[in-house]
This record gives sequence, C-alpha cells and structure tokens, in this order.
Amino acid sequence: MKLKFFLLFLCVSVGTAGAAWRDPVRAPHGMVASTDRIASQIGVEVMKRGGNAVDASVAVAFALAVTYPAAGNLGGGGFLLLRRHDGSTTAIDYRETAPAAATRDMFLLPNGDKIKGDGSSTIGYRAAGVPGTVAGMAFALKQYGSGKLSWSQLLEPARKLAAEGFVVTHRLEGMLQDNQSLLSPYADSRRIFLRDGKLYREGELLRQPDLAATLGRLQKKGPREFYEGETARLLADDMQRHGGLISRDDLRRYTPKEREPLRGSYRGFEIISMPPPSSGGAVLIEMLNILEGFDLKKLNPLSSDYYHLLIEAMRRAYADRAEYMGDTDFVRVPISGLIDKAYAERQRSSINLERASASSEISAGKPAGYEATQTTHFTVVDAQGNAVANTYTLNGWFGSGVVAKGTGFLLNNEMDDFTTKAGAPNLYGVVQSERNAVAPQKRPLSSMTPTFVLRQDGSLFFTVGSPGGTTITNTVLQVICNVIDHDMNLQQAIDAPHIHHQWLPDEVVYEPLGLSDDTRRALEARGHTFTTKPENMSDAQGIMIEEKTGVRLGASDARYDGAAVGY
Ligand code: GLY
Repeated sequence: MKLKFFLLFLCVSVGTAGAAWRDPVRAPHGMVASTDRIASQIGVEVMKRGGNAVDASVAVAFALAVTYPAAGNLGGGGFLLLRRHDGSTTAIDYRETAPAAATRDMFLLPNGDKIKGDGSSTIGYRAAGVPGTVAGMAFALKQYGSGKLSWSQLLEPARKLAAEGFVVTHRLEGMLQDNQSLLSPYADSRRIFLRDGKLYREGELLRQPDLAATLGRLQKKGPREFYEGETARLLADDMQRHGGLISRDDLRRYTPKEREPLRGSYRGFEIISMPPPSSGGAVLIEMLNILEGFDLKKLNPLSSDYYHLLIEAMRRAYADRAEYMGDTDFVRVPISGLIDKAYAERQRSSINLERASASSEISAGKPAGYEATQTTHFTVVDAQGNAVANTYTLNGWFGSGVVAKGTGFLLNNEMDDFTTKAGAPNLYGVVQSERNAVAPQKRPLSSMTPTFVLRQDGSLFFTVGSPGGTTITNTVLQVICNVIDHDMNLQQAIDAPHIHHQWLPDEVVYEPLGLSDDTRRALEARGHTFTTKPENMSDAQGIMIEEKTGVRLGASDARYDGAAVGY
C-alpha cells in the first residue's frame, strides 16, 4: 500500500514537472522532429541505413504527404534550408509558380471585387500554383544526398503507407470533418478523404491507392515523371476540364532554384534563414535587429514590458513586409537595407516604451480578419552534423481542396499568397503590395522561415521552423528569444505561449490560454488591442546540439501530435 502510494506520488510529481518544463528528446547520432511520429521514425530509419539528413528529409517529406494530407504534399511547395557538416549552407526554393496563363487581375470580377468560392484564389482549380515539392526534393537529393540510398528507396516507405494505409488519428479525424465543405465538391477528394460521406473515424485505416500508384510511377520513372509523364498528363487534363490554368507546359517548365540564405546576427549568434520569395528571413532578422537594442534578459518572458517590445518590433517589420516584399526574380526588394543594423536602430528609436504605436502611423493600409495556421515544418540533423530545416505547404489546410482525377494528391491554393487585390487581405489577413502581384512563372510571397542559429564559434546551436502563415516568422522569433534571452531549453522555448502582430490589422493575436488577463489589461492600458484565436498558433519543430556532448536534442511542439525521434 505504502509502495503504491509512493509510486503514485512519483508519477504525479514527474508528470507535473513534465507539463511545465518538458525536456527535449535526446539522442547521440541523428534526430528528426516533425508533426507526425510515423514520418519522424521513417527519417530515423533512413539515417540508420547510412542516409544523411537530406536523404532522411526526402523520405520524411513524402511520408508526410501520405500521413498528413492537410499540409504534407506532392501538390504544393516550400523551402529547404541546408547546413552541411563542413559549415556550407544553401537554400532550396521549391515554391510553386503562377501558371503561364495567370494574370494580375485573375481573381477579380469586372467590378474589381474579389471572386468568392470556386475560381477564387483559395478554392478550386484556379487557386493552384505549379507544384514544386517533387522537383525540390529531387534536386536536394541529387545535389546533397549521400548517394547511399536511391530516390526509389526513399519513396518506398511513403508508397507503402499509401498502399497499406495508416491509422487515422483523432486530429486527422477532426481536420477531415472540419474541411468537408472544401473537399466535397471534387469527386476524387470526396472519395479519398471523405469516403463519399462515411467519414473516417480515429483508429480506422486510411488507404490511398491512387497516391500509391503516383508514388510508384515516380519510383520507376524518376521525378520528371511528375512534370512530363502520366502524372503531368492526368493533372493538366483535369485542369483543362475544370477551368484550371496549369498546363503540361507549365509542369514541364517548373524548376526549383538554389538561393543564398540570408544571414544576420543576434547577440553574437549567427542567424541563417530563408531569402525571398519568402519574407521569413528578412522579417525575422529585422525584428531581431530591433530587439537587440533592448535588454530582454531583464524582462520576464510573460510580462507586458516584454510583449510591448515584441509587438512594436513585429509591427514595424511586418509593415516593411507588406510594402517591400515579393519574388526577387521579378521585382526589386531592398533586402540588405531591411536587415541592416543601422536601419533597425532607426526603427527602434521610433518605439515609445510606454505607448503602443498606431499601425496607421507606421504606414497605410486596411484592417482585416485572421484565419487559421497551416503548412508544416520538419527538421533533421544527422550523425555527421548535416542539418536540414524544411517548411512546405499546400497553403490552407488541404490546399485548394482539389485532387486532380487519378493522381491521389491534393493541389495547393498558393495563388492566394499573391496580392490578389491591392489593399485587400489574403487568407492570413495580410495586406501586400504591387510587388507581389500575380505574374506568369512568378513565385508568391511566403512567410516560411526555416532557420539555423549558430553559436559564436560557428557551430550549429539549433534549427527551428513552424507552420502558421504570417504567424510563422513571429513564432521563430519568439523561440529564438526564449532560448537566447530567457535561457529556455528548446522544448520550453517552443511550448511557451506565443503572440502575433502583423502590422495590419492593428491587433495582437494570442493563444486562448497564452496570456493572462492582467498582462492583457496592462498592454491595453498602453494602447494595444487584442484578439484571440480559436486554435494554437504554432506547430514548431526544432533540434538543438548540446554544446559539450554533441547530443541531438529534439523538440516537437506540445500543441499538436508531432514527435522528435532520434537514435
Ligand atoms: N502559404 C503560407 C506561406 O507561404 O507563408
């Protein structure tokens, strides 16, 4: 009896401590952190077979396309940031492109109003950009894979999962239920994900034979099959039948781009992040530069004084995002100016420590509403020290809702990340400029922020990234400040409450239980306004390298079902 009581006490104590300060997962060799345990495990198996972090990332990306169909994808795009064990870095941009037939005003009615429903920038065939994921993964593998595992071997776990099925989680059951109206107008989406109305329940097997067949063709014929073979034919034919714009020519012409990562610093730590067409790196570095001038260590990470400074930095950097950012292959973006320390000093000097600035005085724009947080991030560090931070997406959950007939995979609605109407908000309520207007082959502006932080000696400190549309960059910012300024371990830094401000609408978004009434009232007294979101703000994934031992410390956001798995 006494022993039982003691054990119960022990469990409660450990449980309570764990809830407040969960430690990262530790492993000596390699680590994968993703939003899905099956996918993380697949990445680890690849590394155990001699694969490197890039090989593992390819396998994880294809596995998530099966087990996490809301954001994992073949029909979307993203960004892969790589730091090799020799310290060299590169950024692979496999963002979707606008089809050749896309036009600046394609989502507007003749009277200038935005089109609603199918045919708009968010739903249906016309919402999809030319998918980049297959080409991006193939490029990464060819250039930076270990050569020990073939393309076909790395796709096999995903093909098997699609063919044999996987167990539907409570989360997936809910996501499918919540997105019935998006998916049901499209015959293949309805059949695959909604079982023609007999909705999947937690614990049932979800099989995706069409997706397994597509993956099988990619295994046999290689990645170009997606862009030039049967898959391309199926996709383009279905597009044509339904008024979509993606043609076989668009698919044939799609190429990923290798870009120079953006570099900044924060209190002596080097920050390496994503350049345009993502706004993530530039906005992150600008915010860190502004905050560097304040002694944040002195401030409690849940205090109104700290939040005030975060909000004012966010407001200024997101105003710049709205005004200046777009695809640098098409428009000029003053990146070096935006991430310049002297510029940040000027931005900082306009912050009043007692009062909120009004966004209307920082720059002009129109207020708008917020929507949910999509996309997915994973990260891998292998035994040699190669590190990958990869964020990819369909944009909204389940993208455009469309599975082109016979292909088995969902298409993105990334066209909504363009400025579909100047001054009007997109899916994330963000207002953007003419620089991000739709044009053929152009990439829409992103917020994805896969990031590495290096120690003063140049060694990898940690990797981090998150989904969440425009909230992504602010999540990454707060994780970095939590580690560097507030001495949190990476798991704590990710799990801690986050806030979000994006200049317009001029309001602070907070997680339902993430801000005390007292703190909110103190900030309201300074002139800040607030709104809460019905759901969590992030699903961040990160890996830290323990300084003395080199142990990999994996951290997956406590908000969702993800898992860090190591070996
Ligand atoms: N589709 C969300 C982003 O790229 O930021």
